[in-house]
Amino acid sequence: MKHFALITGASEGLGKSLALECANKGMDILLVSLPSTGLPELKLLLDQNFEVFVDYLEIDLTDDESCHYLIEYVKSKEYPISFLINNAGVGGNYQFGNQDFAVFNRMIQLNIKALTMITHGMINVLAKNSQSFILNVSSMIIHFEGPYKQVYGATKSFIFYFSKSLSIELKDKNIQVTVLCPGGINSNIKMARINNQCNLLQQISVLYPEEVAAYSIEKTMKGKNVIIPGKIVNLYFIFSKLLPNQFRNWLIKTNNTKLIKSQQALSQ
Ligand SMILES: NC(=O)c1ccc[n+]([C@@H]2O[C@H](COP(=O)([O-])OP(=O)(O)OC[C@H]3O[C@@H](n4cnc5c(N)ncnc54)[C@H](OP(=O)(O)O)[C@@H]3O)[C@@H](O)[C@H]2O)c1
Repeated sequence: MKHFALITGASEGLGKSLALECANKGMDILLVSLPSTGLPELKLLLDQNFEVFVDYLEIDLTDDESCHYLIEYVKSKEYPISFLINNAGVGGNYQFGNQDFAVFNRMIQLNIKALTMITHGMINVLAKNSQSFILNVSSMIIHFEGPYKQVYGATKSFIFYFSKSLSIELKDKNIQVTVLCPGGINSNIKMARINNQCNLLQQISVLYPEEVAAYSIEKTMKGKNVIIPGKIVNLYFIFSKLLPNQFRNWLIKTNNTKLIKSQQALSQ
């Protein structure tokens, strides 16, 4: 079966690598990202290198109207979407009380509301195919509660719970739901600099978006429910469960403190 993928946050980082991987697998693609972030150039790159159909939409998914527009656009074009990839997401490290609420509002709107609205709007489209997939991008952070990532971690926990619940609910519609929980990814220069400030174990576990994308698409198509890419991340995850709570919390706090300092230094 020829698949048609809808990928949010496709302009850079993991989303761009997922787009290249989908094209490599012969899928047609609808790319979605913010305006002026390189989607026409990405379409050109895909057109020149793969024999697939590519379209793009430049919209801000923190806006409800844009999410509605995307859903109506897919329906009006009759694109037979069979692979929905909810990748767009914003993160960061912030002191809760000192940060303008607009930052958290944007995080909640994009990571939770847009993802939920798009998934809801696409269910009937996905259900028309003999086999469809939803790949939702959460994060490994959901297993490491700590300071400065309170809202981001909570939005990613929402995605995890939502995906696991939906996966059971949609089984009889032939829609496979998978949730991806990556550790650090050097998805762009800023992320590479920030990831470089993590503790040593996390530093050596950082992955590149191309490898995460290839592994995620493969495992999703094989019907895996939860994907944690990278051997070292998996080891770190198991190892962290064995640590006494106090030491574990200290480790996370120390790590997150380095991250927030590094993020603040980069934004100066
Ligand atoms: N990097 C990591 O270490 C890491 C770890 C775990 C999970 N993740 C998750 O992986 C996903 C991709 O992360 P990444 O590191 O590849 O991030 P990224 O490089 O910042 O890419 C995020 C993508 O989402 C798009 N986007 C942002 N705000 C948007 C909006 N309002 N409307 C539409 N598109 C929007 C961005 O477009 P612009 O180019 O315009 O910003 C970009 O294409 C996210 O959900 C993130 O939470 C990342």
